[in-house]
Amino acid sequence: MDPISPAVSKITVPTILDRKLRGEKITCLTAYDYPTARLVDEAGIELVLVGDSLAQVVLGYDSTVPVTVDEMLHHLKAVRRGVRRALLVVDLPFGSYHVNNEKALESAIRFIKEGGAEAVKFEGGRSRADLVRKLVEAQIPVMGHIGLTPQSVHALGGYRVQGRSLDTANELLADAEALEEAGAFAIVLEGIPRELAAIITHRLRMPTIGIGAGPDCDGQILVFHDLVGLSYNPPAKFVRSYVNVREVLHQALTNFRDDVGEARYPGDVESYHWSTAMRQEFEREIARTG
Ligand code: KIV
Repeated sequence: MDPISPAVSKITVPTILDRKLRGEKITCLTAYDYPTARLVDEAGIELVLVGDSLAQVVLGYDSTVPVTVDEMLHHLKAVRRGVRRALLVVDLPFGSYHVNNEKALESAIRFIKEGGAEAVKFEGGRSRADLVRKLVEAQIPVMGHIGLTPQSVHALGGYRVQGRSLDTANELLADAEALEEAGAFAIVLEGIPRELAAIITHRLRMPTIGIGAGPDCDGQILVFHDLVGLSYNPPAKFVRSYVNVREVLHQALTNFRDDVGEARYPGDVESYHWSTAMRQEFEREIARTG
């Protein structure tokens, strides 16, 4: 890896907070392995999330629910090796923070110590405020996540936009304020109306990072595979695909298949060679020995 330029300074939790104060947007993306981590980091994205969306986009599960701490840790370590500048955040997967706060702290400590994460994220509002306090007391920066929280897919009855009614909007605002009060340094707002996201963003000191929450959030996050057109799930309304990598890769793979099938690959320049002398000597040798 190229040495990091001294002009490119490391993004830290205070840097993320400063960006809100300065009115500078925060760009965030997921990454799940070494090459995606390098691509995202070298593009100057400020925050890299090893999201539990790993479950669906990389591991092929049909929700984020089954992914385990060990699976997350395996991918986190690969991402850690590829990220130099961005702040590295990891999701606590479903089940790792639901039994009790002690077990949650243990999982978070593994991610920080063994995986090299610099912060953790988990889903939930007021009911998770005590857990936020516990992790912050242990010097672990915490990012909240409210709105359409994919780990609650069974309780929510599907992936639906949240906060459409007055009651649910009030609940979400109270959740966001409770997480800030408990010490979270930022919060993901997922799948909520633009108007509600704008109000929450205005009311909080910590930055809001939107995904399907409109343009008024302090930052935006997308799943890497959605942005590059590599996902197999139909894209949500808020996704903008900047390139169709699946199509590009499909073309490359079928070209390879055709080239091998038609004996166009490998060519002479893609082959290793003997010197003429070596060839002649070997031919003489096998002629002698029969
Ligand atoms: O797991 C994930 O990818 C997320 C999002 C906020 C992108 O939590």
